[in-house]
Amino acid sequence: MSVAEPLAPGAVVVRAPAKINLALRVGDPRPDGYHPVLTIYHAISLRDEIRAEAGEPGGGISLSLDRAGERAGVPLGEDNLAVRAVHLLAEQFSCPPDVVLTLHKAIPVAAGLAGGSADAAAALIAAAAVLGCTVSGEQMRDLAAGIGSDVPFALVGGTSLGTGRGELLTPVLARGTLHWVLGCSRMGLSTPTVYGTLDRLRASAAVPPADLSPPTELLTALAAGDPAGVGAHLTNDLQAPALTLRPELATLLDAGLQAGALGAVVSGSGPTCAFLAASEAHSIDLAVALSSVGVCETVLRAHGPVSGPLHGI
Ligand code: C5P
Repeated sequence: MSVAEPLAPGAVVVRAPAKINLALRVGDPRPDGYHPVLTIYHAISLRDEIRAEAGEPGGGISLSLDRAGERAGVPLGEDNLAVRAVHLLAEQFSCPPDVVLTLHKAIPVAAGLAGGSADAAAALIAAAAVLGCTVSGEQMRDLAAGIGSDVPFALVGGTSLGTGRGELLTPVLARGTLHWVLGCSRMGLSTPTVYGTLDRLRASAAVPPADLSPPTELLTALAAGDPAGVGAHLTNDLQAPALTLRPELATLLDAGLQAGALGAVVSGSGPTCAFLAASEAHSIDLAVALSSVGVCETVLRAHGPVSGPLHGI
C-alpha cells in the first residue's frame, strides 16, 4: 500500500516478514507425511502487507491482489493461506468470515522464503482485529500451526529454533544485524517435491542420512554476533534436492562465494539462494555481482533479524 493511500475507518494493516533458514536439518518422514526438522529460522526485512476491513454481511472473504501478486500468480481461493487463515479464525470464534482483504506482495512466491506463511500470519492478526475476536498469543500460535509449519514463526519473527515440523519455536540469542543478498528465480519450486526428492536421494544413499543434532557452531556464532562464523556454518538438507531439481543454482551459489559472500545457502526448499554479506556496503557490491551471473531473475537485499507482527503480544 502506498504511504499516501488513506486508511478507511475500521481498516487494519498488518505486515509480516519473510524468513530464511540459517540451518535446516530434515529427518525421515513421519507417519503423517511431514518430516521432522531442526531449523534456525531468521526473519528478514522483506515483508508482505495485508489490509483487512469488514465486508458486507454474508459476503464471505474477498481477496484482491496488487500488481506484484497478480504477476506472480498468487492464488485467490482456498489455496491462499491468508484466506485459509481467516476461515480458520472465523470457524474457531463462530463468527461469519465477512472480511475484505487486500494483499500487497513483496516476498517472491514459491521461493523458499515463506511468503504465503507471512500472508497467513498477517491475515490472522488483521482479521482478528476487524472481526473483534479476542485471541490470546497461544491461540494465535495454535491457529497458525494449523495453517502451515512456517506460519507460527512468521507471527513472531526474530531468530528462533524450530522443531517438530517447524511449528514448535524457541527463541535463539542472536546479536547484531546480518546483511543478506537474495538471488530469486522466476519459477518457484514445490515444497513437497523438494522434500520428496530428499527422501529419494537418501534412499539411494546419494546424500548423508538424517541427523537432527543442533547446529552448535552456528548457535555460538549467532550468540557472539560473528557474521563470519554464521556464514561458515549455514546448512540446509534441502539444498541437495533443490540443486538436483535446479542444477543452475550451483553456479549462483559459487558466484556469490567468489564475490566474497561470507556464506551461501539455498533458503528453505528453494529456489532462492541467500548470501551473507560482511556489511551493508558489501551487500551492495554482492548484489551487483550476482545480478550479472544471469541465473536469477531478481536480486534483493535485506537485513535480519526483524520482528514479526505478534512480537511482544
Ligand atoms: O506445513 P506446510 O503446509 O507449509 O507444508 C507444505 C508441504 O511441505 C507438506 O504438505 C509436506 O509435503 C512438506 N513438508 C514436510 N515436512 C515439513 C514441512 C513441510 O514434508 N516439516
